[in-house]
Amino acid sequence: MKIRPPIRIHGRVNVPGDKSISHRAAIIAALAPGRSRLDNFSSSQDCQSTLGCLRALGLAIEQQGSEVSIEGRERLETPSQALDCSNSGSTMRMLAGVLAGHDLSAILTGDDSLRSRPMGRVIEPLEKMGAKVESVAGNPPLNIIGNELLTPLDFEMPIASAQVKSCVLFAGLRAKGLTTVLEKHSTRDHTERLLNWFSVPVTTEIVAGNVAKVSIRGPVAPIARDVSIPGDISSAAFFIAAAALMPGSELEIAGVGVNPTRTQFITTMQSLSLQVRITGTADVCNEPVGNVRVVGRARLASPAALQSNNLPVELIPQLIDELPLLAVVATQIEGGIAIRGSRELRFKESDRIAATVKNLRTMGAMVEEFPDGLSVAGPQRLRGAELDSFGDHRIAMAFTIAAMLAEGESFINGADSVSVSFPEFFKVLESIVEQ
Ligand code: S3P
Repeated sequence: MKIRPPIRIHGRVNVPGDKSISHRAAIIAALAPGRSRLDNFSSSQDCQSTLGCLRALGLAIEQQGSEVSIEGRERLETPSQALDCSNSGSTMRMLAGVLAGHDLSAILTGDDSLRSRPMGRVIEPLEKMGAKVESVAGNPPLNIIGNELLTPLDFEMPIASAQVKSCVLFAGLRAKGLTTVLEKHSTRDHTERLLNWFSVPVTTEIVAGNVAKVSIRGPVAPIARDVSIPGDISSAAFFIAAAALMPGSELEIAGVGVNPTRTQFITTMQSLSLQVRITGTADVCNEPVGNVRVVGRARLASPAALQSNNLPVELIPQLIDELPLLAVVATQIEGGIAIRGSRELRFKESDRIAATVKNLRTMGAMVEEFPDGLSVAGPQRLRGAELDSFGDHRIAMAFTIAAMLAEGESFINGADSVSVSFPEFFKVLESIVEQ
């Protein structure tokens, strides 16, 4: 994909439904006897993988555009073939928790990227609860041998992960007694909110400082409900960054999910004196939804390239998916940004630290790489270049924005990977750029 730097961004757009919420809504609806309708379901390939796996487990699912209708059932069937999660870590980790509590055996597999990602983090708690999970030294494929009599677990999460938390909570639905998850740094809480929306009580209690205890008492089945899914703030983030950094830009994105566990990218942009505002927030199906307005900043004064902006480590889990984009933003910011304590980025769809450092350096940027992050000097000029997505949707989109901020044309290899989370990315972008 060829990218030419535009003059500015202008317009009003919507983004497709939130990917994290769509996965969870489909999974919970599948477990809730009766019909649930999901409106504004994510258009991502990842969420299609979740629907495909649920169909293979015997569920009747209809889809028309972004409307999905699911006939939930209490019992899931042993599938006749392996469940293909493709590129989606969320599908694999969350379904592992669901399957663990059913009397079936199922294989969860995926593409090359997913088959290299760590699954020990879900295998360990699920085996403690009484399921059996066979793997290839902690990597997929996973063979889940479920157990209808799971034992509840008090689980202290060794890493901050919403997928792991959700996996244990889904297993907790089928365990007899109280399952708790202790998290030291809060992660996205869509599973908790949606389970409550589907009439399953899940409580969150702050036990000390930032430490939260999330509890669910099983066995309990969700009750079918309709869900209206907000726009995906992680997809919106790319346009927000471009508009905020391009002088003369004005952008409004309507109907975006503004759950506080997901808005840290916006808060960080605001702390960098960029003009991003959330307006008109309302509660929709237990999730806050609002509009995001962005005004492009004034042209930069002359550069002073000293590192001075450090991202607090406790905030990392709340903007984990936006970190490659933030590294791009850092090149345009007085003082740059140092992102540390984010080793988890190396275990995403690609090694996102290595991919970001490589592409930024190809664009001529000064970047330092650490085992747990990177430090980007700023402000600095980016040069148009031939860049690589590393098969990773968020790297493709972050470097499309970098290319828009650069001098000269760029080419992004493997840009079609955007479909994993946001197939309409380039079409929406085209509708708001002024060349
Ligand atoms: C997600 C959680 C995060 C995030 C991923 C989606 C979710 O992963 O990176 O894109 O929907 O729960 P981890 O739980 O591995 O941090």
